[in-house]
Amino acid sequence: MNLRKLFVTTALPYANGPLHIGHIMEYIQADIWVRFQRMQGHTVYFVGADDAHGAPIMIAAEKAGMSPKEFVTQIGPDRARTLQGFEIGFDHWHSTESPENTELSQRIYVRLRENELIAIRPVEQLFDPVKGMFLADRYVKGQCPSCGAPDQYGDACEVCGAVYSATELKNPYSVLSGAKPELRTSEHYFFMLSDPRCTDFLRQWTQGSRLQPEVANKAREWLEGERGLADWDISRDAPYFGIPIPDAPGKFFYVWLEAPVGYLASLKAYCARQGLDFEALLRDPATEQIHFIGKDIIYFHTLFWPAMLKFAGPPFKVPDRVYVHGFITVSGEKMSKSRGTGVDPLRYLEVGLNPEWLRYYIAAKLNSHVEDIDFNTEDFVARVNSDLVGKFVNIASRASNFIQKTFGGMLGETSPTAGGVDPDPIVQAFQGRAGELAHLYETREFGKVMREVMALADSANEWFDARRPWELAKAGGADQQRQLHAVCSVAINLFRLLTIYLAPVLPALAREAEAFLRVKPLRWAHAQQLLPAGHRIAPYQHLMVRVDPKLVAALFEPRTVVTPVSAPAAQAPEPLTIGIDEFSKIDLRIARITAAEAVDGSDKLLKLTLDVGDGRTRQVFSGIKSAYRPADLVGRLTVVVANLAPRKMKFGLSEGMVLAASDEQGGHPGLFLLDPDPGAHPGMRVR
Ligand code: 2FM
Ligand code: ZN
Repeated sequence: MNLRKLFVTTALPYANGPLHIGHIMEYIQADIWVRFQRMQGHTVYFVGADDAHGAPIMIAAEKAGMSPKEFVTQIGPDRARTLQGFEIGFDHWHSTESPENTELSQRIYVRLRENELIAIRPVEQLFDPVKGMFLADRYVKGQCPSCGAPDQYGDACEVCGAVYSATELKNPYSVLSGAKPELRTSEHYFFMLSDPRCTDFLRQWTQGSRLQPEVANKAREWLEGERGLADWDISRDAPYFGIPIPDAPGKFFYVWLEAPVGYLASLKAYCARQGLDFEALLRDPATEQIHFIGKDIIYFHTLFWPAMLKFAGPPFKVPDRVYVHGFITVSGEKMSKSRGTGVDPLRYLEVGLNPEWLRYYIAAKLNSHVEDIDFNTEDFVARVNSDLVGKFVNIASRASNFIQKTFGGMLGETSPTAGGVDPDPIVQAFQGRAGELAHLYETREFGKVMREVMALADSANEWFDARRPWELAKAGGADQQRQLHAVCSVAINLFRLLTIYLAPVLPALAREAEAFLRVKPLRWAHAQQLLPAGHRIAPYQHLMVRVDPKLVAALFEPRTVVTPVSAPAAQAPEPLTIGIDEFSKIDLRIARITAAEAVDGSDKLLKLTLDVGDGRTRQVFSGIKSAYRPADLVGRLTVVVANLAPRKMKFGLSEGMVLAASDEQGGHPGLFLLDPDPGAHPGMRVR
């Protein structure tokens, strides 16, 4: 097989709020595709980043009393929890507020300028006389100049998709002060998209198989419409949180110029981390650059972005594919871009709902078209319970029962006749579907894959039932035993094949199934092999439980703490979060224990003397006596909270706290002092 190199991205979320279900849907879609490609043996670089710049973030930061930089960094921990929680396997997550993005954006701009595609023109812009600043497009609202829809932002219409400049709005008003904006003049920088070189290139680029037909049509409408392609205003005046335009004091790139460059910045940072050659990777004609996006940002990704890349020249390359999806509604309710919908992904995890239920549900609804999908709670519960639990894991639990009880965990032949070579026809039929299912994954027809695989699961259960294994078990004769062994071994093999076919959607379940089957990580090609007679599987443990409707109800309730009752995702993250700035107030340091002794009159405490690298020693009392003998501690390195206010204890002053892990109750043996890797030395900061 021809091995591919895929550079895959998802749209960069604005760094001014948590990820909502619309983001998660997109990430799940892309992640399924990426996992499928990896199972094929292809190499994938799957990266994301925060879209950190722009006026809305600057203004939100000001409201929160933070610098924009602080503001955008504090959303990091929630991002990581959400992405990990839903098993989204990005290789790297970056930010457009980064040296890589500054360098790449400026480089691309300079190339465009060298190509004589940048123009400087005075622009009459709306100025808020109350706030004393030029108004970013998002801070002016009015009627869409194209379709007349009221209350549309100054850059694009959410109703008809038209893109325009704020001065074209009818009856504009400042969102910040409500004032009627004044027109003032300022010099702006333009990317000359109306240049015939750009238009010709885009005419050719938007046709062909890069885009879904409906997306290509939309792009053609924009290109060939009466308005044609206007030059694109890519500068904003200070004050602006963004990237400075080279040789243009007081001017910054409009956020949409450098946001997609963030895809490259993230890849570059990832390459640096991995010791890969970023430019060589981009220059390699075999590298495919693929963007997953929502339908609201087609314009930017099918016109501006390819043109920027094309005229910046190598190593930059134009995207090979842009995969556009529709929106997600919740019980028919439209999502708001900033607030999302009633389903909050972090809350989903916190209440203990299994992330793979959502992955499956979303997969079952997705296809290759730009269609909206709906999250409907009853449908969600019904589908997960009937498909995943009732059909898929059921087959494993039923067959493994006999395999364990009667055959000591060992599989038998899969051939229907004693001594036969060929596996049962049902096994061959399942194996024969691998190619077709692969094609459906490749073309993002995930809903079809789920339907096909569930039909297979149905047939597996029917096949199993028709052979009445419980009667064979009861009969107990040698021939029946042999038959029972074969029936259950076939069923386990069918379950394994179903697991391969569902693994891109259910990665955590696939890992557990691999442990149950005692096999290495499953690849697509493994569908052509079977578990041989004599292979031992592990005792079956619940792979997935039914959805508890109480948990689903909790998803829509105002925040209360819910104890997960049955879901395997019971290890939901703690609901309480802190920002990075709060965390960084804790001064964690490497310390060497230079002396340790028991404390008279205390059966819990040890008195430790620590070297924290600041030229003096500190005394710390630590409740680790039950787990450690003082003599064993002397000379050890550990981690200490160095800026904890000194505390007067009965036995003396404690000037810090050493860190140890424990179960909830603490106490030996559940108590483990933290231990840095060799090479750390006293005084090093832990962050
Ligand atoms: O629409 C949005 O949410 C933007 N932050 C998407 C940016 S995608 C890419 F260009 F960075
Ligand atoms: Zn409109």
